[in-house]
Amino acid sequence: MMDAGRHPRINLMTYSEIETIGGFIGNFQVTVRKKARYVDQDECNACGECEKVCPVVVPDEFQEGFSSRKAIHMPFPQAVPSVFILNDKDCLGHNPIACGKCAEVCEKNCIDFDMKDEIITLKVGAVVVATGMDVYDPTVMDEYGYTRFENVITSMEFERLISAGGPTEGHFVRPTDMKTPKRIAFIQCVGSRSHSPVGNPYCSNICCMNTVKDSLLLKDHYSDTEISVFYIDIRAFGKGFEDLYVRSKQAGVQYIRGLPGEIFEDPKTKNLTMLVEDTVANTVVNHEFDLVVLSVGVIPRRDSGTVQKLLTLSRTEDGFFMESHPKLKPVDAPTGGVYFAGCAEFPKDVKDSVTQASAAAARAQILLNAGEISVEAITSVCDADMCESCGICVTVCPFNAITGGDRKTKTPAQIIEAACKGCGTCAAECNFDAISMKHFEDAQIMAQVDAIMNNKHMEKIVTFACNWCSYAGADLAGLSRLQYPTSQRVIRTMCSGRVDSKFILHAFEKGAPMVLVSGCHYADCHYIDANRWTVKRVDKLWNKLEKLGVRPDRLQLEWISAAEGQKWKRTMTDLDEMLKNVTKEEVEHTMKVLKEDREKSEAKAAKQVLKKVGKEIPIQATV
Ligand code: FES
Repeated sequence: MMDAGRHPRINLMTYSEIETIGGFIGNFQVTVRKKARYVDQDECNACGECEKVCPVVVPDEFQEGFSSRKAIHMPFPQAVPSVFILNDKDCLGHNPIACGKCAEVCEKNCIDFDMKDEIITLKVGAVVVATGMDVYDPTVMDEYGYTRFENVITSMEFERLISAGGPTEGHFVRPTDMKTPKRIAFIQCVGSRSHSPVGNPYCSNICCMNTVKDSLLLKDHYSDTEISVFYIDIRAFGKGFEDLYVRSKQAGVQYIRGLPGEIFEDPKTKNLTMLVEDTVANTVVNHEFDLVVLSVGVIPRRDSGTVQKLLTLSRTEDGFFMESHPKLKPVDAPTGGVYFAGCAEFPKDVKDSVTQASAAAARAQILLNAGEISVEAITSVCDADMCESCGICVTVCPFNAITGGDRKTKTPAQIIEAACKGCGTCAAECNFDAISMKHFEDAQIMAQVDAIMNNKHMEKIVTFACNWCSYAGADLAGLSRLQYPTSQRVIRTMCSGRVDSKFILHAFEKGAPMVLVSGCHYADCHYIDANRWTVKRVDKLWNKLEKLGVRPDRLQLEWISAAEGQKWKRTMTDLDEMLKNVTKEEVEHTMKVLKEDREKSEAKAAKQVLKKVGKEIPIQATV
């Protein structure tokens, strides 16, 4: 951190927040609010005289509330830059000045009560998201009594109590009597690997080894301490971790497989008891401890939603940011020019965070050094003459790659090719056929439908599969030699978001008994959230088909991932069964009603065009 702060080519902006990010890969404009710290950063030498005279005392967040700080304070001992900060919310008043004692004692006149936030605009080529994580709040788990019993603390609080720079200068004491506890329990997986409504289903990755490390630290400082660790499994993967775990056991730490149901406190001694089923020994034992440490899990930053909006990122179900591809682009965000480092993407320890940060820096450097980028060959193109400036494409684009589309100013949509990733959602949603997608044009896809329906159409299922998941799932089924009916005919699109309603209706009009749209799982689309529009579109189509007297279940929507070859097989087998129940009369009726419906809409559209150009030509003549 110190090195970064001193590096001539690194502009370290602490106590600052990003307000907006515009632009695209290689060309981002970032607006930063540099908050007023009311202390001249260049002049302050951290003598600490101001802090001594400040009369305001509040709990110190850095010390987890175990000690206090002043309104003017150093955020934490190793802060870079090593400069004091005046928290204006705690200060008795800086405008007008209510106290001003800090300014009176500051010999270098560093304190400026009139300091204002500064807005800075930066032009950058790449962005690395390294926003870190937050810690699970155990107050919601009443059974462990975190809010009721002072001697139940979290692993973060443990860190402060055992740290030489902590409130007790490293003398480990329990909060109720300030004596060194002799019997300590660690409870693992608090808030992690839990399917309860207040927990998180994922493993937080770092808690097991953190507890192993803490147990060794305790044994090192206080060798006679009895330590018990209650766990589901100990996950000691990683270089040297198993050794550390073995050392902890050899040092006398007891590892008991089983978690307590509830913790009780003796009101007199403040000791804590818990009944635990040891699932290895198959016994139920009542344990008593002086102190309990809850090994709390990791959660995504609580303000991840703001960062997500700023950079149009996507998040996985657990709330962490989603990478572009878990194997091929593990540090790239789906938005071009944005990379991830550390726990923003998923919980990881220091070593893995540093590894990922190095990879992210290298990825950004490659981009910047190249000075130019190659755009996707499958970007969208907008025909300005056909564009009605409705703006729907701007709304649906997951990458903010479309500008314009403004009816008021009659500005047609414009595609920023460098930002377009080619999901094709804009082309599928455009009601005026103004947008086409290179290599996946309407005519090309329609021609594939026609070719499929050309022969023995009653035996075929027209299947639209997205490139990244469903098509790969079909591939896997094939490679695994899975046997399933041969009725499906696959049309590949880059994303299920590209599957235009008219492709599906065209397939039915041409005699398809069944149509399947398949794509990545809902929160897993490779184009951020493009398949959200697939759902909306298919939903609308189900309603339309029903109104036209067509069985909506002849159109199916299925999420099949690249690893789900078995699901592909199952889906195809089920659909083949459904296919057998579709009658020839039904298909003929569908073809007839869809043809009529299409002709009606085409006539209506033609009428509107004519109205626009001010000519009166009989409708029949235009159809
Ligand atoms: Fe598979 Fe979007 S990429 S549904």
